[in-house]
Amino acid sequence: MSDLQMSGTIKKYWKDLAAVAIASAAVCAGLAMPLRAAEKADKAVDFNKDIKPILAQNCVKCHKPDPRNPRGPAGGLRLDDKTAAMKGGKAGNDIVPGKAEDSLMFKLLTAPVKNGDHEIGAMPKPMRGKEFQPIAKEKIELIKAWIDQGAKWPD
Ligand code: HEC
Repeated sequence: MSDLQMSGTIKKYWKDLAAVAIASAAVCAGLAMPLRAAEKADKAVDFNKDIKPILAQNCVKCHKPDPRNPRGPAGGLRLDDKTAAMKGGKAGNDIVPGKAEDSLMFKLLTAPVKNGDHEIGAMPKPMRGKEFQPIAKEKIELIKAWIDQGAKWPD
């Protein structure tokens, strides 16, 4: 190989290296995008804006006191009042601030939960004869994030 050929080969080597570097930078930039999207999903959840409407739409009709229903709120759990909600219902551990995975309010959104020899059905409880229909995945994630972030419920 002549000197000239040799330097040509080295030049090509550097060119290839540069191409690899540019490609990696592009891949990194591409990865940064979904990462930023994930950060957004983890942003602080606002009870009044994000959670209250979900509860109002899907849960409160059964989980509030009703003068026509002497048995009281379903499962003894109110979801229309901070103090009562935090106290929890019959089973307890409904909202464990900071720990969605330990909170019935989160666990029941995807599956029934055994409580002693009783099984609490998945929520929202379907109408008689109907199949369980979970609320939207994004809403379940919001409730999970809200509990994990401390279940802050402004007065
Ligand atoms: C159609 C009525 C109805 C709706 C709507 C409903 N629930 Fe329930 N919920 C019940 C009943 C009835 C029980 C008691 C079930 C049992 O003990 O087997 C219960 C129990 C619970 C419990 C356990 C309470 C305890 O400590 O024993 C939680 C948590 C709960 N519901 C959360 C929710 C959430 C969150 C929603 C909305 C996404 C919801 N529910 C919607 C009827 C309902």
